[in-house]
Amino acid sequence: MQNNVRPASMERITTPALAQAFIEEQLAALRAQIGSDKVLLALSGGVDSSVVAALLIRAVGRQLVCVHVNHGLLRKGEPEQVVRVFRDEMDANLIYVDAVDRFLDKLAGVADPEKKRKIIGKEFIDVFAEEAGKLDGVKFLAQGTIYPDILESGPVKSHHNVGGLPAELNFELVEPLKFLFKDEVRVVGHELGLPDNMVYRQPFPGPGLGVRCVGAITRDRLEAVRESDAILREEFAKNGLEGKVWQYFTIVPDFRSTGVRNGARSYEWPVVIRAVNTRDAMTATVEDVPFALLQHITDRITHEVKGVNRVLFDLTPKPVATIEWE
Ligand code: XMP
Repeated sequence: MQNNVRPASMERITTPALAQAFIEEQLAALRAQIGSDKVLLALSGGVDSSVVAALLIRAVGRQLVCVHVNHGLLRKGEPEQVVRVFRDEMDANLIYVDAVDRFLDKLAGVADPEKKRKIIGKEFIDVFAEEAGKLDGVKFLAQGTIYPDILESGPVKSHHNVGGLPAELNFELVEPLKFLFKDEVRVVGHELGLPDNMVYRQPFPGPGLGVRCVGAITRDRLEAVRESDAILREEFAKNGLEGKVWQYFTIVPDFRSTGVRNGARSYEWPVVIRAVNTRDAMTATVEDVPFALLQHITDRITHEVKGVNRVLFDLTPKPVATIEWE
């Protein structure tokens, strides 16, 4: 039975020195646990899996095998960043799996949000298990479990974490972050030399852009979500909102409306902007984004994103609305 209670004596990791002490302690523990065996990790590029990867690369180098599954629902530039940071800069043993067509084919025509989530979760596990099956001599599975995952385990976790892997993979677990809270993971990640935009990034749902491309996912609308999200993030960063707003993103609904472009009528998708603040994601308020900035973002999105002729701002707090649209 694994111990899942954070030791009362464990100091909260708030400073670089405390993070360094944690890192040293974990390196020794990981080396002792793993010895000369291989460890497997599903590396999404999110904060937790990235910090686990950086820690294990330091502890056991290329005995760690990272698998990055690109399911086509990541934000613009993310799969490339994972390859650049981990394979090119940290010399990780990284398997990059382009599973975009496979996921989008499975999702074609599926409009129900929970069915979409299930398909994404199941497909992810299948792809990962297939990759694991190709490897010899793997004894351990590393996971980016953090303390809130343990505290909130149960239905919340199963709804929210697509990356949860099935027991039949039958590896011994390596969970170096399991007693850390998110802010502590970020301090440790920063000390391990990960880029700020990886360590301090806003929360991103496991099913990714899949739940922001409302209804049945189509490639054209998915690209509109990805491109408009990139513009929104760029403008928020330029205008000092990046670290200030808790979560911000765009949504593309599955209906069109008329517009005019170059003197002709258009019939295209709208983009919805959502920007919210919260402490625990149970309730949320809407960020008061300056109107001139919203106008500028609208201008950019309607001119730069293909198939979009309208931009809307979601003014609804949670409750009554949820943060995501699906
Ligand atoms: P809602 O939309 O329920 O979202 O108000 C609350 C927070 O949870 C995130 N979210 C998810 N995260 N898998 C995840 O890993 C999911 O299926 C999922 N759905 C929502 C959402 O982004 C917000 O931060």
